[in-house]
Amino acid sequence: MKSLKTLFLVALLMALAITQLSATSLETEEPKSLRGTSRFLSKKRVALTCDKNPKICLIKGSAGPNCCSNKCVNFSTDRLNCGRCGKKCSFGKICCQGKCVNPKTNEKHCGKCGNKCNAKGSCVLGMCSYA
Ligand SMILES: *[C@@H]1O[C@H](CO)[C@@H](O)[C@H](O)[C@H]1NC(C)=O
Repeated sequence: MKSLKTLFLVALLMALAITQLSATSLETEEPKSLRGTSRFLSKKRVALTCDKNPKICLIKGSAGPNCCSNKCVNFSTDRLNCGRCGKKCSFGKICCQGKCVNPKTNEKHCGKCGNKCNAKGSCVLGMCSYA
């Protein structure tokens, strides 16, 4: 009597397992549900742009803390968005602390941002000259 009950249980479990397996394979084989998944994923990617979520530009590894045309930038140093979105530095100029400067002649940013020539020096061709 007892062994018959066990046999019945085992059979029931096996039947359940088979039903479960076929249900799973049906789900993964159905192309409709796959398409639905990828659509859902791309929607999620669109939602993670800085136009809608400016805070993502503050995440470590971001190109900068500011958002211009859906791209994270650094207003402080971005030549194409210097100080504000769309403010381009003209040819030969670089962006330092949000301002376009000429590194060849700028005494505070001589050669590169933040390279200050001292009181006796002047910036000549991007180098502090003390002659
Ligand atoms: C932006 O650029 C400035 C100057 O290089 C730098 O000090 C600052 O850390 C940058 N900000 C970010 C968030 O990368």
